[in-house]
This record gives sequence, C-alpha cells and structure tokens, in this order.
Amino acid sequence: MNPIMKMLAVPATVVALWAVSAQASTINDDIAKRLEPVGKVCVQGQECKGMEVTAAAGGGGGAKTPDDVIAKHCNACHGTGLLGSPKIGDAAAWKERADSQGGLSGILAKAITGINSMPPKGTCADCSDDELKGAIQKMSGLK
Ligand code: HEC
Repeated sequence: MNPIMKMLAVPATVVALWAVSAQASTINDDIAKRLEPVGKVCVQGQECKGMEVTAAAGGGGGAKTPDDVIAKHCNACHGTGLLGSPKIGDAAAWKERADSQGGLSGILAKAITGINSMPPKGTCADCSDDELKGAIQKMSGLK
C-alpha cells in the first residue's frame, strides 16, 4: 500500500470501529432496560417513582385514608353491627358511646386497647392513632 492510501485507511478504520461500538452501546442499553427488574426494590423513606400505588395498596408507607382503614379492617364488624358493634353511619349509637366515655378521644382510647369483642386497634395493628381516629370519625360522624 502506498503511504497516501495508508493515511486514508487509518481514519476509515477508526470511524468504522466507532460506529460499531456506538451501536453496541445502544444495544447494551436496550438489553439493560429489558433486564431491569419489574418490581424494583423500594426502600421505605426513599422517593420511589411509580411505587406510590403499591405502597398505598400494601399499607406500607404513607398515611392510610379513613376509607382504606374502614374497608380493610373496621367494616368487617361495623358494616353490619356484628358482635354488637355500633354500625357505620348509626350516629346515635356512636354518640351514645362517645357521650358516656369522654367523647371521641374516649372511644378512640377504647378502640386502641380493645373492648370486649372489639379487638385492639380493630385489627389494624399498624394503624396510627390518627388513622384510627379518622376511621372512627368517618364511621360515627363525630367531630
Ligand atoms: C372483630 C370485629 C370488629 C372489628 C374488626 C372492629 N371493631 Fe370496633 N367494635 C367491635 C365491637 C363488638 C364493639 C362494641 C364493643 C363493646 O362495647 O362491647 C366495637 C366498638 C368500637 C368502638 C367504640 C368503643 C367504645 O368505647 O364504646 C370504636 C371507637 C371502634 N369499635 C372502632 C373501630 C375501628 C376504628 C375499627 C377499624 C380499625 C374497628 N372498630 C374494627 C367490633 C369490631
């Protein structure tokens, strides 16, 4: 090969190599994306994009809404008045209890410890006091 051809050939090789490796890296990115685990590990307390729904459904992080707590826990008994529990929406029954036990905070205290057939925290072991209070307010109409 004459010197001039050599000089032309070198850059051509470099360009060709560059093109191959550029293509390879996009392929690798694609593969990496496809290999990403479907359920990424999401550590509580960290911001996890796209995990909010799972967290709410699993009852892991974040405040539970009164509706969630009632639907998952309280409704089992209070929906029908099972075992003599005050029924959801029966404001008079709830008010009578509140009046005789120091108001909302009084019956909240009983809900936390449990009373007779009413299990502690109404089976919502990981409910905060506030979350229980919200559920009681919603079921009873008490303020
Ligand atoms: C296994 C059935 C059951 C579940 C589940 C349940 N309760 Fe109850 N609850 C009862 C019964 C029964 C009573 C009435 C107890 C009594 O006075 O003898 C009661 C009473 C209460 C009272 C009134 C307490 C008082 O001092 O008079 C509150 C408040 C209450 N429940 C809140 C809740 C909340 C909030 C939940 C859901 C997080 C819940 N309960 C889930 C059965 C249940």
